[in-house]
Amino acid sequence: MAYGQNLLETASFANYECDGRLNVPSAVRNSEAIVDLVRKTVIKSGSALEIASGSGQHIVKLASVLPKLNWQPTDVDESRIKSIRCWSGDHHLPNLKPPCLLDATKRGWAAKHHDQDLILLVNLLHLISIAETEILVEEISMGLGSGGISIICGPFMRKGKLISKNDIEFHQSLINTDPDLGYKNDIDMMNLFSEKNLLLLKTKKMPANNLAFILQKR
Ligand SMILES: C[S@@+](CC[C@H](N)C(=O)[O-])C[C@H]1O[C@@H](n2cnc3c(N)ncnc32)[C@H](O)[C@@H]1O
Repeated sequence: MAYGQNLLETASFANYECDGRLNVPSAVRNSEAIVDLVRKTVIKSGSALEIASGSGQHIVKLASVLPKLNWQPTDVDESRIKSIRCWSGDHHLPNLKPPCLLDATKRGWAAKHHDQDLILLVNLLHLISIAETEILVEEISMGLGSGGISIICGPFMRKGKLISKNDIEFHQSLINTDPDLGYKNDIDMMNLFSEKNLLLLKTKKMPANNLAFILQKR
């Protein structure tokens, strides 16, 4: 799937500022919960890869509160890369690498980003197809070093059901854009993790009805 402009607009409302940075209200709203979640995982130092970093507002906070982790921001979209550069430029964090382009749904990226201690993915799986999700989870598994942790967070169906009016409307708007998109089922995700050698350590409820899966490479 090409990540088109319609989907960019459906997926996350963003204010574009004149230097190219994006200010995404939803990213700001959920950043505290994401930072708190990552801080409470077992990982304290090492290498951390974020897939689909978006505006870059999460990763700047993560890199400042977790200075022993070396953070690599990535995204498939050039305008996001530019925004991440802007937010990073304000902070001069030695543990935050320059962002790089990464299409997480294309096979092979794990060979370049191998031996990660942490791979973080927030709010992407509902924007890609099931086939792409399978590739992405397999690459995450291959990108983690032994015992490495992945945190995968976003909106999911629970046992095949959408759990609120907002979720029903959002899922419907996604499948109206492209029938291959939309919320994935939590049970299917758990089966996929197990198939790809990722042990589910914990499932955590997040704000806005989101779920976070905390996984460990077997
Ligand atoms: C809803 S935004 C989430 C951004 C950020 N993770 C957050 O939670 O604020 C989805 C992001 O996924 C990125 N994206 C879409 N398809 C992608 C792909 N195939 N590989 C990597 N990133 C992708 C988009 O460019 C966008 O930045």
